[in-house]
Amino acid sequence: MQSVLVANPKGGAGKTTFAVNLAAGLAARGAKVALCDLDRQRSALQWLGLRPPALPVIAGVGAEVRGAGSRDGRDGWMVVDSPAGLHGKNLAHAVKLVTGVLVPVQPSLFDMAATGEFLTSLMDVLGKKRRSIGIIGMRVDPRTRAAATLEAFLNQFELPVITYLRDTQLYPNSAFAGQSVFDAPEYIAAREIRQWEPVFDWMDTLE
Ligand SMILES: Nc1ncnc2c1ncn2[C@@H]1O[C@H](COP(=O)(O)OP(=O)(O)OP(=O)(O)O)[C@@H](O)[C@H]1O
Ligand SMILES: [Mg+2]
Repeated sequence: MQSVLVANPKGGAGKTTFAVNLAAGLAARGAKVALCDLDRQRSALQWLGLRPPALPVIAGVGAEVRGAGSRDGRDGWMVVDSPAGLHGKNLAHAVKLVTGVLVPVQPSLFDMAATGEFLTSLMDVLGKKRRSIGIIGMRVDPRTRAAATLEAFLNQFELPVITYLRDTQLYPNSAFAGQSVFDAPEYIAAREIRQWEPVFDWMDTLE
């Protein structure tokens, strides 16, 4: 099973929103998916508890991934949501367990300042594996000055912005019902789903 850690020490960066939508998006594509919640607040697992059983299945961590039993170690995905403030030994430990790290960043001065230090230590921990870090521009319209500022900030780290996800009530509204943009009718969420395509493409490149 491959795994991806969703991390940013800044509170409210969009980690849980990103993690639950990623899990649901992978499940919608037919993958076996487990959602692991390292946050004591258990927001991701609360979301999973609300998820209607008729929707594509996501296993809470520790639970058996439904349909598992295949001996293919690369079968399926584990999405790991992490708490605000993750750093030091805990960060190093979490990073070593996963195939890739996705970092949602909002294009505000305060978010970027808090994220900069984190990206530096993340790259230290990963060393040559730094190609397994991807940035998600969260709540960004790519045509705006905010997006350009975020890209300029990230250029110094030479890290790719995998995609920009719009600021839309579809994210919080679907979460209330244990759902994601991938569970909404296509005429409502088509634009969101298109914005996620590069994330799945990037995950396919991970080793
Ligand atoms: N793309 C988006 N559009 C609209 N609202 C968003 C988006 N992404 C996140 N939000 C909202 O921002 C708030 C914070 O998001 P979220 O809880 O996912 O952040 P977090 O990084 O997990 O926070 P914490 O550090 O406390 O765990 C939530 O109310 C969420 O609904
Ligand atoms: Mg969270």
